[in-house]
Amino acid sequence: MNKLAPSILAADFNILGEQIREVSEAGAHYLHIDVMDGLFVPSISFGFPLIESIRRNTDIFFDCHLMINDPDRYLTQFAKAGADSITVHIEACKDPVATINAIKALGLKTGITLCPETPLDSIDCVLDMVDMVLVMSVHPGFGGQSFMPSSIARIEELKKKIVSRGLKTDIEVDGGITLKNLRLILDSGANVIVSGSSIFNGDITTNIREFKKIMK
Ligand code: DX5
Ligand code: ZN
Repeated sequence: MNKLAPSILAADFNILGEQIREVSEAGAHYLHIDVMDGLFVPSISFGFPLIESIRRNTDIFFDCHLMINDPDRYLTQFAKAGADSITVHIEACKDPVATINAIKALGLKTGITLCPETPLDSIDCVLDMVDMVLVMSVHPGFGGQSFMPSSIARIEELKKKIVSRGLKTDIEVDGGITLKNLRLILDSGANVIVSGSSIFNGDITTNIREFKKIMK
């Protein structure tokens, strides 16, 4: 099933609670939560207090994308803060198999992701363990960048690999997704769509309706 995951990185934090309610009522499936540590990526976004606070106000599935070094240090805290799924970067893990097992042991869904320049084969060690692979279609760290066209071939290659292994792994794509390139991304094999600016700039409900028309 196709799922839409608006990224709150592009939200107006003055009215974050209201915007999350709107996203949820408009029928988004996940809330994509981008955590940045200023080390793995140049920017810092937000952490536990924010996640705990918004968790009290919504039941929507929290899809947490950790752009942080050595994420094992914080998995328990993300679970306590209200994460439903944790996606970690292959480049940031010392022992990716152990990290994915630790997320599973917390009772959460698991995801692995990789930067645009990282070879797809680097995730082979965990491919049959995870619920989702996130293909980054921009360099992680900032919202509002342009979709990298080279991501399409990566999504297609990953889809082939997943099918040839007899897996049902979700393919999520993150970065620069708009109403214009969405069809192509879905046709390449992706089924979980992250979008920040194209959802939160303008009217959220209308934007989600337009995304979902293409995604159904
Ligand atoms: C980038 C983040 C993305 C970002 C997407 O590091 O992982 O989730 O918020 O934003 P847009 O859709 O604006 O590219
Ligand atoms: Zn993200």
